Amino acid sequence: MVCLQDALQVKEVELPNRIVFPPIQTRLATGEGEVTDDLLEHYVRRSQGLGLLILEHGYVSRQGRMGRKELGIHDDALLEGLTQFTRRIHALKTPLVIQVNHGGALSKKEVTGKQPLAPSPMREAKELTYDEAEIIIDDFRRSTERAVKSGFDGVELHGAHGFLLNQFFSPLTNRRRDKYGGSLQNRMRFPLEVVERVKEQVGGKLLLYRIGSDDLHPTGTQIEDAMVFARRLVEAGVDVIDVSGGICGSRPSTLQGIQGFFIPQAQKIKAVVNVPIIGVGGIVNPQYANQLIQKKQVDLVAVGRVLLKDPEWAQKALATLSKTC
Ligand SMILES: Cc1cc2nc3c(=O)[nH]c(=O)nc-3n(C[C@H](O)[C@H](O)[C@H](O)COP(=O)(O)O)c2cc1C
Repeated sequence: MVCLQDALQVKEVELPNRIVFPPIQTRLATGEGEVTDDLLEHYVRRSQGLGLLILEHGYVSRQGRMGRKELGIHDDALLEGLTQFTRRIHALKTPLVIQVNHGGALSKKEVTGKQPLAPSPMREAKELTYDEAEIIIDDFRRSTERAVKSGFDGVELHGAHGFLLNQFFSPLTNRRRDKYGGSLQNRMRFPLEVVERVKEQVGGKLLLYRIGSDDLHPTGTQIEDAMVFARRLVEAGVDVIDVSGGICGSRPSTLQGIQGFFIPQAQKIKAVVNVPIIGVGGIVNPQYANQLIQKKQVDLVAVGRVLLKDPEWAQKALATLSKTC
């Protein structure tokens, strides 16, 4: 029987166990998006005992940025800091990928100096043109190239929580009537084009996609659409699907207090694809996390806020479970 502490080989990367630290923004970067000592220390403290660290989202272009101290991966000048980061975490024998993101309509004009772009007009954002879509796809490609050059074991595309890729997929935010909007087929098109382009850069490393599997809204994305999308993502070359949801944020208030709040969606997606699945949502208990693996509900378990509070949670969980599993 497979347990939480068992390794998982994904392509050329061996994950030493099934515990994932999901991307959690710290706002500890400099105003230019560079890695700082504080950011590095924050992750060093939490990396021991992990199977995989997913570094918080880095913005792929200035226009896709949302906050002043957000981490960036939009410029070659950031390579040095990112390389130091990966060396330090690899020294702890922890594999790591970086989440790459574009805020779309959630980007902030007061931070970027530019009008935000989105699939359809929303807040301050204007509908993006085909030329602008092409530039953004290439920004994702170049950011992935930087991630690989800096020594990350791969990238995670941020397709959840209401940011640009999720804005294309969700019928709540995509009201286009061209090839990028309307039918499910068309709403998947832009994220799939991004996947195809970044795939060229990833090689034997990992391409993860964080999917917004459920908008938790009657006319938003439903899990059935996400299952179709997940299959397409895998066909396009995604190696791991990280199942989250909530178009207005990752921790919908209605789900708080429920351990494993996006596990039902993760299980449904796992049933239709043949790549490892990460499950997330309010997980606090090592035995519960272990059961998710033993019962094959998911392949990897992400534990976010608990690891923020207790940086040694993963090490303690492994020690407790080694007696039982
Ligand atoms: C402060 C904070 C920042 C977050 N930043 C990100 C992020 O950069 N990217 C992302 O995909 N999710 C982000 N999340 C969501 C987490 O990755 C995770 O899905 C969520 O916290 C639920 O897991 P948990 O209950 O184990 O914390 C963030 C969550 C918190 C609390």
